[in-house]
Amino acid sequence: MPGLLYGGDWNPEQWPERVWAEDVKLMAEAGVNLVTVGIFSWARLQPDAHSWDFGWLDRLLDLVHRHGIAVDLATATASPPAWLVRAHPELLPVTADGVRLEFGSRQHYCPSSPAYREAAVRLTRALAERYRHHPALALWHVHNEYADHVEECFCPASAADFRRWLRQRHGGIEELNRSWGTAFWSQHYNSFDQIEPPRTAPGPVNPTQLLDWRRFCSDALLALHRAEKAVLDEVSPGVPVTTNFMSMLKALDYWEWSRHEDFVSDDAYPDPADPRAHVNAAMNYDLMRSLKGGRPWLLMEQAPSAVSWRPVNLPKGPGRYRLWSLQALARGADGVLHFQWRASVAGAEKFHSAMLPHRGTASRGWQETVRLGAELRRLGEVAGSRLRGRAAVLLDWDSWWALELDDHPSARMRWPDLLRPWYAALYERGVTVDFVPPTAGFDDHPLLLAPNLYLLDTATAERLTAYVRGGGRLVCGPFSGIADRHDHIHPGGHPGPLRDLLGIVVDEHWPIPDGATTAVDLNGTGLDAERWSEWIETEAAETVARYGSGALAGLPAVTRNRLGAGSAWYLSCHLGADLGPVLDLALAEAGVGAELPGLPGGVEATCRVAADGTGYLFLLNHGPEERLVPLRAPGRDPLAGAGPLAGADPFPGTAPLTGTDLLTGAEAAGAVTLAPLGAAVIRLPAAQERA
Ligand code: GLA
Ligand code: GLA
Repeated sequence: MPGLLYGGDWNPEQWPERVWAEDVKLMAEAGVNLVTVGIFSWARLQPDAHSWDFGWLDRLLDLVHRHGIAVDLATATASPPAWLVRAHPELLPVTADGVRLEFGSRQHYCPSSPAYREAAVRLTRALAERYRHHPALALWHVHNEYADHVEECFCPASAADFRRWLRQRHGGIEELNRSWGTAFWSQHYNSFDQIEPPRTAPGPVNPTQLLDWRRFCSDALLALHRAEKAVLDEVSPGVPVTTNFMSMLKALDYWEWSRHEDFVSDDAYPDPADPRAHVNAAMNYDLMRSLKGGRPWLLMEQAPSAVSWRPVNLPKGPGRYRLWSLQALARGADGVLHFQWRASVAGAEKFHSAMLPHRGTASRGWQETVRLGAELRRLGEVAGSRLRGRAAVLLDWDSWWALELDDHPSARMRWPDLLRPWYAALYERGVTVDFVPPTAGFDDHPLLLAPNLYLLDTATAERLTAYVRGGGRLVCGPFSGIADRHDHIHPGGHPGPLRDLLGIVVDEHWPIPDGATTAVDLNGTGLDAERWSEWIETEAAETVARYGSGALAGLPAVTRNRLGAGSAWYLSCHLGADLGPVLDLALAEAGVGAELPGLPGGVEATCRVAADGTGYLFLLNHGPEERLVPLRAPGRDPLAGAGPLAGADPFPGTAPLTGTDLLTGAEAAGAVTLAPLGAAVIRLPAAQERA
């Protein structure tokens, strides 16, 4: 489809058919060009085990097609109907405590249930066969938010599936015993039949069993997804297929999942009550773009205003909905869709905002819906353009899962908490990042950040070493290189396979109690470490910063090891909000600078580039004050030398950039003024984009 996509989940089965006519008329008024239909329509499509009812969906698809609106057709499998559940009560999921979750909500299925899978695949096939040639069909939407509500099931079917998965992974039972370290606490198994999922037990459960369980649960849901996807690929080839991801979600290894998507789509619900919500959103959008190597992705769901599932649900307020929508585009999305089109009057989400609020077209919300639709049409030429991060962040789900197992030196070492300050420091410096998997080559970026690599195999360590030798800059956070893929400690001193690369050895972990901090001295600049510190000794590395207080006072805190043409930095502590000055040194060394020099505080800038070299510079003012944004070329390739750093103004006398603001049609030369929560999208001719 040409241009940007705009629309949302439409649940017409909640309304009498005469309302549909008004819906499509209003969709045209708002510029809606894509609707997601049928997400929770299973009971309507298949009223009982022996009948189908497609008549209403036929009429609906014909109706939207007559109005020039395309359909993202759901496979409708996320909420199995009551008749199926009563016929197969064993498909209901069971918690670790043995409680079977009841019918009456949604997502009530066991990922390993043969009855559920069979029924889901049958429904998918019926839909695919009926609608594969329908002219309204633009894409397939498999299921809805895998792992939402239920990410694991402990029933006998899951246990059997887990044992099958374990056999495949480990081969023999003695291999499993070695991997799980079952010599500890007399946990030895004689056969796979003796193994159960990690249900609630008297004390700490075997950590490798828990880690394998996490891997299995992600794989079990993926197998279910692939079963539906295979039907769509077979019956309806050529129509792109996606499932809506849930941003940075622990339960699913999205690197693995995204290999099976035709394109990535995401649901994002930044909290209007959180003043830093846009920073987190930027991080999630960068991940979504990175999952398929920078290809455009789709914001499948966002709320036009308030959600209904937080304890207190704030509206977005004037301007923020538009700004946050543009932010997704700024970070590579080719469309903005919503939950949902028309606000429900019944059901659990009747207080959730919608594109068409309860008050109808007189509402402020509706005016924002119409306004955004018009703006997206003006931005149509942005579709298909891409942006590239200047630095990379390494994200490994396996390591995330292992890091957060119990009985570690500190329960405060949680991946999102460790990652956020790194991302925030880069965001504040205007540096766009790509996420990369541990299997990547890393060479696409001059700077690679690894906030944590608790679990690390030697092959990845070797690739990191080759990257640094070849001129890359690696910055590695604490508690890294600890365990192998079985979650066994690398013997001989942490950070195990990173020891030679980082040129340090860890003597002991010194977690910092809640509320306390440890001083760190960076050439006279005082920083505060929180959560975590380590007693380390340098081997080949030089000391960049030292601990300034507590038991570790005087010992190295931050180190750098020059190796080959590059260098590897190690942060032995968590610097939280004080991370910036250390990252500044690494950024300078790697020659990585801001997207746009001299960016004022609170303004986000990214540049998407079209195949013909045209640049689209997105400028977003997240702050409450008007901002003057200089539009200037850095004057030299920021990747080639010591790049611009925050705070400084290293570009006196550089050439002003000129372009057209696609939102207003106004010419911009040298500077742009942004209102509070204002935005501009400047089209830069190819020559200027290169500058
Ligand atoms: C108790 C148990 C030991 C060990 C220690 C750890 O003393 O008897 O087996 O778990 O706690 O502190
Ligand atoms: C998720 C679901 C939607 C809806 C929204 C509400 O994204 O996919 O069905 O429940 O949350 O915010």
